[in-house]
Amino acid sequence: MAVRIAVAASDRPFQGPVSRDSGSEGTEWLAGESPAVAVTRLNLTNYRNIRHLRLETEAKVVVLSGPNGAGKTNVLEALSFLSPGRGLRRARLADVPRRGGTGVWAVAARVRYPRGVIEIGTGVAPDQRVGERRLVRIDGQVARGTAALGRALTVNWLTPPMDRLFIDGPSPRRRFLDRLVYGFDVDHAARVSAYDRALRERSRLLRDGRSDAAWLGALEETMAACGIAVAAARRETICRLRSGMKAGVSPFPAATVAADGDVERWLDVMPAIDAEGRFRAALEAARDCDARSGGAAVGPHRTDLAVCHAGKDMPAEDCSTGEQKALLVSIVLADARLQEARLGRAPLLLFDEIVAHLDATRREALFELLIDRPAQTWITGTDRSLFDRLGSAARRFGVDDGRISASPE
Ligand SMILES: Nc1ncnc2c1ncn2[C@@H]1O[C@H](COP(=O)(O)OP(=O)(O)OP(=O)(O)O)[C@@H](O)[C@H]1O
Ligand SMILES: [Mg+2]
Repeated sequence: MAVRIAVAASDRPFQGPVSRDSGSEGTEWLAGESPAVAVTRLNLTNYRNIRHLRLETEAKVVVLSGPNGAGKTNVLEALSFLSPGRGLRRARLADVPRRGGTGVWAVAARVRYPRGVIEIGTGVAPDQRVGERRLVRIDGQVARGTAALGRALTVNWLTPPMDRLFIDGPSPRRRFLDRLVYGFDVDHAARVSAYDRALRERSRLLRDGRSDAAWLGALEETMAACGIAVAAARRETICRLRSGMKAGVSPFPAATVAADGDVERWLDVMPAIDAEGRFRAALEAARDCDARSGGAAVGPHRTDLAVCHAGKDMPAEDCSTGEQKALLVSIVLADARLQEARLGRAPLLLFDEIVAHLDATRREALFELLIDRPAQTWITGTDRSLFDRLGSAARRFGVDDGRISASPE
């Protein structure tokens, strides 16, 4: 079966294309004021438990409700594939196509901006080899890699596994921090990947006992150049967040954030060029030690995101579950506001089971904040009634066994 992976415009700025009509197309459901940035049409084909899905909406907030295992998170995951990377589950590509299908899957979205629309498509085509990267098309043109998606749209999310973000190890926190960088620096993801590739290659050489000094030197140079750029972008993001989150937005607490790592500390006290030299020298000096332990003892791959509840002066890991969730909401919404204020672009937000752990006051405050945002938010839950207070700003859909239906208002 041939699946057409829809299309979209590649290197256009996020503010939106200028050429096409953004008018509504007949079957859209208007609910209250329309968001400036929105996925107004979503088509999924053979996406996990969803054979076909077609959804159109103009709403500020899109609510997906239904029983466990219905496919709500799958829809959000599909939307997260409109941004670079492996989506909100960090899925292996092989796990995404519907089981029992052909291995071909597609996500196609029409994204509306203030000045027009673009069509973004991604997925795996029938003629692709197993293990190949997903295809990306922007307004019909094939894009090189997924990085082009970052120029088209910023997407961020909060999911139930992130309830443990402050409890578990640093890797998910580092990824969370990196996602906050993407909105402001579309090349950040590519630099992180280049750094990780060089790190892996260096580790392989050291593990195999290959003493090719020139090769190791070249890899360490790449690690130093990319690593300093990555650390500098994270530091900038932290500075931005600090200024954007001085007060918090009640009842969501202000968070004190810091990037905790050796390279970031060097950048505090010396120019980037010197930090790069120091990092390169540290890598060279640590070769024997790194060969024994694997990996690299120093570098931005070890950076942690430290978060503190500012009002209570309490590290996030010692806050209650609901407080931790509120801190995450604070950070994501502050980042969204900063993107709006400084770049004139607002991210699409995907909140999976967001109201779990939030009390009624925080739930209602969150709804108000989402309604005030200039971009669309997608939100899921098993209990539709929890979203009643969103009123006409929300469009509600029921999800059941991989099928979606518009709920009566
Ligand atoms: N590749 C796949 N093919 C078919 N089904 C899949 C595939 N991957 C996952 N599923 C199934 O999709 C179903 C829906 O998953 P999803 O996580 O979207 O449910 P949900 O509605 O979010 O449920 P919950 O309320 O429990 O979070 C699950 O039963 C899962 O096993
Ligand atoms: Mg779910």
